Parts: sequence; C-alpha cells; structure tokens
Amino acid sequence: MPTRPLLRLARDFVWPYRATAAVVMLLMVTEAALTGGLGFMLGPVVREVFIDKDPQLTFILPAALFGLMVLKAAVSYVSGVSLAEVGQGAVSDLQVAMFKKVTRYDLAKLNAMHSGQFAARFLNDAMLIRESVTRTTTGLVRDVLTIVALMIVMFIQDWPLALVLCSVLPVTALYTLSLGRKTNKAAARGMETTGDLATHLSETLDGRRVIKAYRMEDHAIARASQIVSDRMKHWMKAAKARAAATPSAEVLAGAGIAAVITYAALRGMQIDTFTSFLASMMLSYQSIRSLSNFWTVVSEGSAAVERAYAILDMPSEVVDNASDRLRLAPPPKRACVSFKGVSFEYGAGIAALDRATFEVPAGKTVALVGPSGAGKSTILNLLLRFYDVTGGGIEIDGQDIRRVTVASLRDAMALVTQEPFLFDETIADNIGCGKPGATREEIEAAAKVAAAHEFILALSHGYETKVGEAGVRLSGGQRQRIAIARAVLKNAPILLLDEATSSLDTESERAVQGALTALMKDRTTLVIAHRLSTIADADKIVVLDQGRVVEQGTHGELLARGGLYARLHRTQFAEARGAPAAVAE
Ligand SMILES: Nc1ncnc2c1ncn2[C@@H]1O[C@H](COP(=O)(O)OP(=O)(O)O)[C@@H](O)[C@H]1O
Ligand SMILES: [Mg+2]
Repeated sequence: MPTRPLLRLARDFVWPYRATAAVVMLLMVTEAALTGGLGFMLGPVVREVFIDKDPQLTFILPAALFGLMVLKAAVSYVSGVSLAEVGQGAVSDLQVAMFKKVTRYDLAKLNAMHSGQFAARFLNDAMLIRESVTRTTTGLVRDVLTIVALMIVMFIQDWPLALVLCSVLPVTALYTLSLGRKTNKAAARGMETTGDLATHLSETLDGRRVIKAYRMEDHAIARASQIVSDRMKHWMKAAKARAAATPSAEVLAGAGIAAVITYAALRGMQIDTFTSFLASMMLSYQSIRSLSNFWTVVSEGSAAVERAYAILDMPSEVVDNASDRLRLAPPPKRACVSFKGVSFEYGAGIAALDRATFEVPAGKTVALVGPSGAGKSTILNLLLRFYDVTGGGIEIDGQDIRRVTVASLRDAMALVTQEPFLFDETIADNIGCGKPGATREEIEAAAKVAAAHEFILALSHGYETKVGEAGVRLSGGQRQRIAIARAVLKNAPILLLDEATSSLDTESERAVQGALTALMKDRTTLVIAHRLSTIADADKIVVLDQGRVVEQGTHGELLARGGLYARLHRTQFAEARGAPAAVAE
C-alpha cells in the first residue's frame, strides 16, 4: 500500500505542523463550500438579471457574486501559502534528519554508498515528498469536498441528470489511474538515470587529469550523451502519459457539456436550473482535472518517503553503548596502545587481519610495514573504531576501546592520510577544525609547527584564503601541511599517519617530513610510510603479511633476521632513497 509510508511521514514530520495543517483544512472546507455556493447562485442571478429584470437586483447580484469570488480567492491564497509552509517545513526537517543520520553512518555504509546517486536522490526525493504532502491534502480535502459540494448542487437542480453524470465518474477515475501508473514507472526510470548522470558528471570532474592524459574526453562525452538520451526517453514516456491526462479529461468534459445542453433543450429545463447545473459541472471539472494525477504524485511521493526511511532506519554497527570516557595515563607517559589477537574481516570469508598482536608503548613510534593489502590501514581503521574487531581486542592504557565512548576515543587521536581532505572553507577554518573554538594565535602556532605559516601568509588573503573546490589552488605538499597543522592543533596523544608523505614530490616531502617529526615527538605514533628513514627511525617496526604480524623489532634486528623486512628493504624501500615515483592523482 503506497499510503503506509505517507502515514508514517505524517506522524513523524507533518505532526509538528498540525496547527497550521488544521487551519489549512478549515480553509479548504470553506473554499469547497464557497465554490458550491457559487455554482448554486449563478442560476438565480441569471434569472433575476435576464428574465425577471429586477432593476435593483441587476446591480446587487453581480456585486454579491463578485464578492463571493474575491472571498474564495483570498481563502485559496491563504490556504495555499499555509500548506506550502507545512509541506516545506516537514521536508526540511526530514532532510536535516537524513543528513544527520548519514553523517553519523558507519564508515562501511558510507563506503558502500554511491554518492552521486545519493545526492540526486536526496534533492529530488525532497521535491517529490513535498509535492505529495501538499497534493494529498489538496486532493483529499479541497478537491474531493469541492466535487461533493457541486454534486449536491447538481442533485438539487436535476437529480436524474446528476445521477447519469455520477455513473461516468468511476470510468474517468479508472482511466486516470492507469495513466498514473504509466507515468510512475517511467518517472522512476528517469530518476535512476538522473542519478547516473550526477555520478558521471562528478566522476568526469574528479578524474579530469586521467581523462585528459588518456584522451578519454570523447568516451566521457559519448557516455554522457547516452545517459542523457536514455533519460530523455524515460521522461518523454512520463510526459506523454501526463500530457494525455488533460486532453482526455477535456474531451470527456466536452461530451458532458454537449449532452447536458441537448438534454436541457429536450426537457425544456428552466434557465436558472440549467445555468446552475452547467456552472457546477464546469466548476467541478477543475477539481477533477487536478485530481487526475493525484495517484501519480501520491505513489511517487510514497516511494520517495520509503527511500528516505530506508536511510533513517539503517541500524548502526559500531554501537556506542559505553558511557565511560577514555582515561589516559598522565603525561609524559600516556596512551599505550595494544592489539591483542585482533582478527577482522570486511566481508565474510577474507581475513584482513588475523590474530594480530603487538604493542605501541606510550610516547613511542611504531612503523607498520608490509606489502600492499597486508592490513596496515585496517589497523588504523580498527583503532579509530571505524569498524569493530571480529576477534580479539584493542586496548589503550588497559581499557578495551569498545568500553569507552567513541567520542572520547576519537578525541584522543589525530589522523593524517595520504590524500589530505580540505573543506571548501578558509585555511583558518580548515586548520581550526582540529580544535573547535581555537583562537587565531593557536591556529597560527600550529601552522608554524607544520611548516605552513610562510606559504599561507604568501597567499592572497593569508589565513582567510578560501581553499576552493577540493583544494585545487594549493599544491599537494601545501595541502598536506595544512592537514598536519590541523593534527598539530588537535594535539591528541595518539597520532596515526597513513602514508602521509607518499603522494608528495621529494621537495615537499622534505618540508612535510620535518613537520611530521615535530608532531611525532613524545606522542604515541602509528606510522605507515614508504620512506626508509621514517621506518628505520621508529622505535619498533611491525611487519605484516596477509593480515598476520610476521616479524617485529627494530630496524637493525629485523635486517639481521633476513626475513620479509630484509627482503622489502632490499626491493621496495630502495626507490625511496632516490626520488619517489610521482603518483598521479
Ligand atoms: N573497505 C574495504 N572493504 C573490503 N575490503 C577491504 C576494505 N579495505 C581494505 N580491504 C581489504 O582488506 C585487506 C587489507 O587492506 P588494507 O588494510 O587497506 O591494506 P594496506 O593498507 O596494508 O595496503 C586487503 O585485502 C583489502 O583488499
Ligand atoms: Mg593502506
């Protein structure tokens, strides 16, 4: 039943606007009654003015008629505005609720989400839902009541004829219903292709360098044209079905009018009866026409509401049922991280980590080393509780991380990744998000530690420079230093570095490396790096292979062992001594 999601929506999101909604209903009832009154009055007016020719009424009646219509227009305006308030208000609340939910999603769900499709849906569904909220109200209250009121007038004027017209109604209803279904299906497909288009568009912009370097422009254009023409096909189908609704209703109305005139002539109907009847019929035609795509709007809206609730109802896997905050040992000795037989799999069957056991002593640096896919990043993901371990446990200063609040856990860590993410805000904001409420002095001090202060001052607006879309106006090294300044400002006891310098050229790597060394000092650090000196300088090296810890020790010890580390040292790290290969975006 398509009404079910709409009822839920009404309960959760329209209910807060019930006072305004009640006013809307009241106004709509009034409007329907006024329309009925208008239909009823028209006959007597015509009679008085044309047949009886009452000199006084000739002016009073048309004026009264006009007054009635003005009143009806005013009521209609106020109810329309109030209804929009209810619909827009409910949808705005729904959007904020969805955004909240999505922002707090588990990383696994966010990773699985198709951002283009999601964005298209988020915006388009809001429109469909708003439409369905306002249309169900106008349809069920105003239009239906107007038709009922006008029907009553017609029955009063000439009930046998009214009865005949009544019997035609179900046929009209069935016909519009079938048109609605067609529109529906086509519109749903059109919606999907809109999502495809959004995805393709953002892909093309994000991958601009690859697209140009591989001369894939024609391919990208061809794909866009294909999606656009697919989309056009679906929308055309929907448009055809939609467009058919009005003319067919009009033809039907034409037949009705012709039949009524013929019948009136044959029966010798009075002019006032005839006028009232015909006027009521034509007035009700408007309501019938506006009801014609009622079903389409309702079922489109209902499907959109279902999608919204699919998001709102999604359960969280990383559950924060802990009430305890993470308690760290007082400085200088604080935050000892230990992995105790940790196993984890992203999907069923393939172990990303297999009984990994190692310790990062407080204030020390541990380098995670291993071939690509060995599980290095997974270790950081688990420590941040982006995912929960499937076996074993992780402790910080003896506390299992599942026993403390996620907020206090993440507050204790700063993460710097290979691709620094900068928001479309000022540089000061981008650094400042490391510590809410940070002063300008603190931000600048952090930037100095991160070797970013100089180049920031050289920018056109200094710290107030907008970073721009995905940080395009800054070099990779500059962006990375801003990300490091953010981590410096956060001043968390645990530092996580995931290939923070891997995508940089030698020169910016040197600048960033200096900043990182300052940051790592006296902090518990887990570092994933390709740079030999970073690894060799670590207090301990943990070597991973296929999710297992295969060796651990210092650089010297591991080299002497002649195991995997020694082999990686000979092959993989060799290039790090020269210039690291530039990594394309
Ligand atoms: N989000 C993910 N979903 C499914 N599998 C993943 C995900 N991230 C990583 N993996 C898999 O888990 C294993 C370990 O990955 P990762 O920890 O990223 O390796 P590393 O950082 O050492 O290169 C790999 O086999 C990888 O394919
Ligand atoms: Mg990795």
